Amino acid sequence: RDATQAVPGEGPKRADFMLVGEQPGDKEDLAGKPFVGPAGRILDAALKDAGIAREDTFVTNAVKHFKHEMRGKRRLHKRPNNYEIERCKIWLERERDLVRPSTIVALGVTAARSLTGKTVTISKMRRTPVELADGTKLIVTIHPSALLRIEDENDKHAAYRDFVADLQAARAAAGKSPAKS
Ligand code: URA
Repeated sequence: RDATQAVPGEGPKRADFMLVGEQPGDKEDLAGKPFVGPAGRILDAALKDAGIAREDTFVTNAVKHFKHEMRGKRRLHKRPNNYEIERCKIWLERERDLVRPSTIVALGVTAARSLTGKTVTISKMRRTPVELADGTKLIVTIHPSALLRIEDENDKHAAYRDFVADLQAARAAAGKSPAKS
């Protein structure tokens, strides 16, 4: 209701990889493009480290509007509820039909819920590909903004490495050879 605009996915018409986030954040809401703010910067770095070119991926969100509450002048993100995830599913399905990725990466619980229809525990499901009903491979991992919230530098680096390893697993699931490091 209070968003500036709907934020659709972005990327090539046919892409091997589709990355699905939760919903646009403050910066994305203003720009009309997905993952252009702080979480997007971490995502870009991790994709590069995993040997995946962002330009070759279709990047989108499970929910297309920024849900937030005002805290003074700041717009604070609010997690979408199941009703909102369900209402937006038609748009994600339309994007999947158009792009036909071989592999989808769900970034966080909202994307995982939208794609599997179930409540997912990331730690139990991450890294191992599963097949969706239409044969698309799905890899579940954390949302990159979770990395922004880790204060301890060692913990943050370890979590970042795990995130990159999940993206590499997606690359392998798509049949791409491992990136040279
Ligand atoms: N977080 C998301 O889940 N999606 C975006 O586009 C930006 C931040």
